[in-house]
Amino acid sequence: MNRYETVLNQLQSDPKTWLVTGCAGFIGSNLLEKLLRLDQRVIGLDNFSTGKRGNLDEVRNSVTEKQWRQFSFIEGDIRELSTCREVCQNADYILHEAALGSVPRSIADPIASNESNVSGFLNMLVAARDAGVKRFVYAASSSTYGDHPGLPKVEDTIGKPLSPYAVTKYVNELYADVFARTYGMELIGLRYFNVFGPRQDPEGAYAAVIPCWIRALIKGETVYINGNGETSRDFCYVQNVIQMNLLAATTAEAAAVNQVYNTAVNARTSLNELFGMLHSRLLLHYPHLKGNAPVYRDFRKGDVLHSQADISKAARLLGYEPSHTIDAGLDAALPWYEANL
Ligand SMILES: NC(=O)c1ccc[n+]([C@@H]2O[C@H](COP(=O)([O-])OP(=O)(O)OC[C@H]3O[C@@H](n4cnc5c(N)ncnc54)[C@H](O)[C@@H]3O)[C@@H](O)[C@H]2O)c1
Repeated sequence: MNRYETVLNQLQSDPKTWLVTGCAGFIGSNLLEKLLRLDQRVIGLDNFSTGKRGNLDEVRNSVTEKQWRQFSFIEGDIRELSTCREVCQNADYILHEAALGSVPRSIADPIASNESNVSGFLNMLVAARDAGVKRFVYAASSSTYGDHPGLPKVEDTIGKPLSPYAVTKYVNELYADVFARTYGMELIGLRYFNVFGPRQDPEGAYAAVIPCWIRALIKGETVYINGNGETSRDFCYVQNVIQMNLLAATTAEAAAVNQVYNTAVNARTSLNELFGMLHSRLLLHYPHLKGNAPVYRDFRKGDVLHSQADISKAARLLGYEPSHTIDAGLDAALPWYEANL
């Protein structure tokens, strides 16, 4: 039995109370679903700025009535310290996902990104500290590697941030480190690399590439590739991210705590390859896609060119073994988009 299977068994025999911030969002709602299926008690917080009530409804439909009754939801904002204090009471573990994602959004409105991602994060740290929470696991980001050209990315070698969003996520890591040293808290940052999966929002100007392209292909709209398509990413299926969160929250290894970890697969897929993967899969159900080709346009400001994670630190210290490659993840995610678009 690997460490993740052991953790899943332990949680089921000894349920805990979890706080998931951003629980109506893409990653937060997937974490919520997994925890409820494991018969955990979950407190959820969201202000619905980018999250959706429909995501919570879907989770409700995927668990039993008894499991759903273990969930208490608070509509509120991490920019309010009193709200953070309220939700942190009684939590054993915090999985902090609430933030404004997207590099272009942060370029358009850096103040809004800073308020939720930095001030809101700091509120959560203070509230978690005062509530005596056991472990605080937070969503960091691969954008912290910034302009460092090295591949694969190794946790202790970063460059300069390329966007306001990347600054906010790096500041999270700096605050977490200081709170660990100063107040003896246990914190773990997970640098997510291009996560994808069911419930990732396909709509709007700030949609991530995979749901954005699936939507465009299904609807017969143009797929735009920013740059020449050789930009590459380490696309990570959401179940791998869930595994990392549960491993990080529960590890008893002192050396594994107060660290940041790459959360990815250690594979690199170019945008041209990604287009081919999506196109060939969708073509099976959507004959209108025969002969469909992407349109190339300018490279987007603030984006890094290549991204691929070294995941050996997470494997060594947390026992992480990604369950899904990009191919397996796309196969698992596509039916959701086909049913929901
Ligand atoms: N999706 C990715 O590829 C990726 C990559 C790196 C890091 N991350 C980080 O992972 C986390 C989750 O991202 P996601 O992709 O699920 O995005 P998402 O937008 O679907 O989820 C974020 C959730 O946080 C909520 N939220 C935002 N600001 C809030 C506030 N002030 N108070 C309360 N709730 C608030 C939103 O309503 C939303 O439900 C974020 O911190 C994001 O920065 C995501």
